[in-house]
Amino acid sequence: MFDATLTGRTAVVTGASRGIGEAVAAALLQSGADVTTFQRGPNSDALRAIADASGRPLAHVAVDFADPNSVDAAIDRVGAVDILVNNAGTQIRHDAVDFPLGDFERVLAVNVNAVFQLSQGFGAGMVERGTGKIVTLASLLTFQGGLRVPAYAASKGAVAQLVKALSNEWAGRGVNVNAVAPGYVETEMNEALLADPVRFAQLSDRIPAGRWGSPQDIASAVVFLCTPYAEYIHGAVLPVDGGWLAR
Ligand SMILES: NC(=O)c1ccc[n+]([C@@H]2O[C@H](COP(=O)([O-])OP(=O)(O)OC[C@H]3O[C@@H](n4cnc5c(N)ncnc54)[C@H](OP(=O)(O)O)[C@@H]3O)[C@@H](O)[C@H]2O)c1
Repeated sequence: MFDATLTGRTAVVTGASRGIGEAVAAALLQSGADVTTFQRGPNSDALRAIADASGRPLAHVAVDFADPNSVDAAIDRVGAVDILVNNAGTQIRHDAVDFPLGDFERVLAVNVNAVFQLSQGFGAGMVERGTGKIVTLASLLTFQGGLRVPAYAASKGAVAQLVKALSNEWAGRGVNVNAVAPGYVETEMNEALLADPVRFAQLSDRIPAGRWGSPQDIASAVVFLCTPYAEYIHGAVLPVDGGWLAR
């Protein structure tokens, strides 16, 4: 029989101050893990309440993923973990003809460079111990190009390749490296789309499930990939998109 609880496992979740990351941190706490969150802002009151109710420790380290020194310092502060969820991500929209190089570099720094730095920083210890789970948030724009988001699309394509590259080296060393690719989820990142009734209706009509995803829909898949049920899953990018990509 499998024991799918994560009792006593230690986890770092990035970008857990709101949205999908907050739901992932909550679900890991409720599954028995001890959670440290990495983001600029503090943990929400709601997440703190879930930690109190679950009786698991919740910590926060202030990190700016656009600054590699800040990422290094955060990794050093925590040391070893059993689970790493690379959830933090950023999105900047401009027409491609006007896209400033500085904005392009910022998106790549947060969405790709920091993901590699964290995966390497915590993954090295996992490889040494022969066990560990790394889950990174990809996107529908891992597979599609999107509109007015060339840096984001490039970064999420890179995430899938990074997951496969790390998996090839670490699958035989007891470390599962995978990604979850959410469809459209109602979070702050999609404020612009949610505020545009025409675009919102166009997107919603194309989703076979008939609704946008919730942060909990995505957190369920992330936590699954952190459990022993996913022991033989390596290098996968799992869409959780209400059927969008099948259409
Ligand atoms: N929402 C969707 O529909 C959707 C779809 C596909 C993929 N995704 C991916 O899922 C992940 C989470 O998305 P979300 O919608 O939940 O995003 P969100 O609501 O915008 O939250 C982003 C999180 O990342 C953190 N973050 C952003 N920039 C940071 C930086 N420079 N340094 C440290 N932390 C930073 C934010 O914390 P602070 O601001 O406190 O630092 C926040 O906790 C992202 O990787 C996103 O690309 C989302």
